[in-house]
Amino acid sequence: MAVSPVIFNNTVLRDGHQSLAATRMSTAQMLPALPILDELGFGALETWGGATIDSGLRFLNEFPFDRLDAIKKGTPKTPHMMLLRGQNIVQYTNFPDDVVEAFVAMSAKHGMDIFRIFDACNDLRNIETAVKATKKAGKHAQGVICYTSSPVHTIEKFISDGLEIEKLGCDSICVKDMAGLIPPYVAYEIISGLKKRVKIPIVLHTHETSGLGGPCYYAAIEAGVDMIDTSITPFANGTAQPDTVRMLALLEDHPRRPKHFDGKRKELMALREHFEKVYAELGKFTSPANERVDSDALTYQVPGGMLSNFRTQLKEQKMEDRFDEVFAEIPVVRKALGWIPLVTPTSQIVGVQAMFNVKFGRWKNFSPQAMQIALGYYGRTPGPVDPEVRALAAKNTKQEPIDCRPADLLKPRMPQLREELKAKGYPTDDEHCVIHAMFPQELDKYFASKKAPAPTAAPAAAPVVVSSTPAAPAASPAAAGGARATRDFVLTVEGKTFPVRVEEVE
Ligand code: CO
Repeated sequence: MAVSPVIFNNTVLRDGHQSLAATRMSTAQMLPALPILDELGFGALETWGGATIDSGLRFLNEFPFDRLDAIKKGTPKTPHMMLLRGQNIVQYTNFPDDVVEAFVAMSAKHGMDIFRIFDACNDLRNIETAVKATKKAGKHAQGVICYTSSPVHTIEKFISDGLEIEKLGCDSICVKDMAGLIPPYVAYEIISGLKKRVKIPIVLHTHETSGLGGPCYYAAIEAGVDMIDTSITPFANGTAQPDTVRMLALLEDHPRRPKHFDGKRKELMALREHFEKVYAELGKFTSPANERVDSDALTYQVPGGMLSNFRTQLKEQKMEDRFDEVFAEIPVVRKALGWIPLVTPTSQIVGVQAMFNVKFGRWKNFSPQAMQIALGYYGRTPGPVDPEVRALAAKNTKQEPIDCRPADLLKPRMPQLREELKAKGYPTDDEHCVIHAMFPQELDKYFASKKAPAPTAAPAAAPVVVSSTPAAPAASPAAAGGARATRDFVLTVEGKTFPVRVEEVE
């Protein structure tokens, strides 16, 4: 049997820094690496989507499509790939079809090639519009099977999901293990089952969170997977994807090892050197807890990110001592809500509901989001919702349960979005419409910051009023300790006030 080399994709420009550095890598920090990344022959570069659009706009003041243009210019040879949350686009609620279609068309126009499209419930009705729009733009639609474990998520169910994705007209299938929970042998069985039954290529995407990533990829490669996602150290391993160099080492002498990396040691090392620098620059957003292998996620069968959030939340609620009780409640909530997979945002919703159930009694305090899941507004759940829980949600919300595709209830919004942009004096093209639909406040902030003068030029362009606060000089911890004296001021720029503390210099 002829063996084809496994194709490596690279995720350093998206999932790598989303998983390990709170999605804070800026376009400027990516640019120097692009010529090398483009030369190495990766199957695709994941460059956009997921949280990068939100984070780039919110924290880095970058208009999302500008980043796409810049990366495309720097890596013209390698196909670009993005992660799209189906009808949620890159947000957490459903958008009408016309907004989803415009987003896909504009992404394609700016150079996106492969659209990896998923739905948290694996309800394919929620990815259908995005898949059709991708095909209409002449691009590659990759349908996703979200991996999770539950009594209804059998190997056979994943394989039948794969068959449905192929029927939908997708060009490939991604088995997405967002939490790094898939055991190697299960990966082997799912991939070999899919390879026997579907004709389109299969990708496996996982995370090294619990130490299973590398072994999982190895098992999947043995089972015939066509592609895997790897990243570049230090934006690799831990809660991110296994790193490219390690995966090559794991495949030493394996007949499916990709040969085009041979002789590219220098380039791979140069990439690492560059990203080490960037990692250090992003020190504020990185954490040793994300870099290490932690098998706790396996014990509790929840995504690693959810585990750490959860510990903080329980502490805030003064419920640390009830950790085990709350965790025992998670499968109860999941079962009642049709064994919903735990992926943003369902992981948070299920976690909070489990906490409420323990604190107030089961379903005594039913969160609005959990009720929306129970009523079908997130889509069709993998298993049936507990009828009593569904009836309770209907009674509490005075809303009817639905069985249709949730977006069928939404009216087109593009004309209205354009009007809103016009009224604000912003550009009214489709790019701005779709960003405004998802991030209206962040877009306002972005335009305000563009209008605002740079801090150094402030006095010339805007009235800056510095006035002492009416309050007496603050007794800052430093001052109280007898060190330096501080004084508090209120700085007013264009009518907005900012508290400023000035420290006396020796
Ligand atoms: Co991921």
